[in-house]
Amino acid sequence: MHNFTFRCLRILYAIPFAQVFERRLHTYHHPDLEQELFGLKFKNPVGLAAGFDKNGVLNDKWSNLGFGFVEVGTVTPRPQDGNPKPRMFRLSKDSAVINRMGFNNEGLEALIGRLKKIKERRIIIGGNIGKNKTTPNDQAVEDYKSCFEGLYPYVDYFVVNVSSPNTPGLRELQEKEPLKRLLVAVQELNQAKPSPKPLLLKIAPDLTDGQLDDIIEIVQETGLDGLVATNTTISRAGLTSNPATVETIGNGGLSGKPLTERANNVIRYLRSKAGPNLPIIGVGGIMTPEDAADRIAAGANLLQVYTGFVYAGPDFPKHICKHLVRQRSFRK
Ligand code: FNR
Repeated sequence: MHNFTFRCLRILYAIPFAQVFERRLHTYHHPDLEQELFGLKFKNPVGLAAGFDKNGVLNDKWSNLGFGFVEVGTVTPRPQDGNPKPRMFRLSKDSAVINRMGFNNEGLEALIGRLKKIKERRIIIGGNIGKNKTTPNDQAVEDYKSCFEGLYPYVDYFVVNVSSPNTPGLRELQEKEPLKRLLVAVQELNQAKPSPKPLLLKIAPDLTDGQLDDIIEIVQETGLDGLVATNTTISRAGLTSNPATVETIGNGGLSGKPLTERANNVIRYLRSKAGPNLPIIGVGGIMTPEDAADRIAAGANLLQVYTGFVYAGPDFPKHICKHLVRQRSFRK
């Protein structure tokens, strides 16, 4: 379905005026939705989460479907196939997805090639960076630095992803010392640029409160610009799908409705500990416009959707935006 949707959209956007038509149909503008965060001007707070357009195929064309921003990647320095198929499973009864894609992507050069071709930029593009599966953790810093350096001219902000459950050992980089080393190294590169770009960290929903405290401390120490919370969970709590089916599916990250409450709690915790000024992008289990308003109430400045978009369809960003305006739910 994912590949089919991409193919349809690529064909559609090759037709003259199709993008204008799509924009009319799916976008909603309102001055209250606009905000400036870490020096970037967002037309609305709804973004497409990382992993959907890993290779930047549609990149800023996601604005036609009403998104205010898109995060391309996770990109790794070298192309990699990811895990064997099947590796993505819908749990319709739970409005959820389990995936173990494993950072399948065409690699840094292919992504750069696509971003270079964008003529007129319509929305903000973030670059979500990771490491190759074959790169050992003690050399991971070099992978993140290559991705940062390569993407620097082409993206508006960066997200360091150490929270995918599908690359063996990756989440160990969320531990205090390796995380600090990694972020210091990428931030050093960033700060050496004439105009450094916003640098954020994406975290897992499975961290303890103590680990979240460490994360906040590291964010402050390394001068990061914000957090993206959360990635998929390794927990299977609260599922109503047949346990045997879930068991057969096996390992992978769970997203969608079962993640809503945990992701909300993580945002609430981060906001209460980090104070009002740390920019937070709230993602995980935003399945309805009401969930989006709740996430902002919990402390998120911006939102991202993946599974909710898969289930609700192309008008989802528009419906969220309209609801936020009606409810006057903003954190600016
Ligand atoms: C993801 N997600 C993800 N995140 C990331 O940082 N890099 C990635 O490459 C991917 N890939 C990916 C593939 C698939 C199939 C899914 C379902 C998810 C995680 C995603 O960005 C998001 O954080 C979670 O899915 C939680 O949000 P939703 O899906 O509940 O809205």
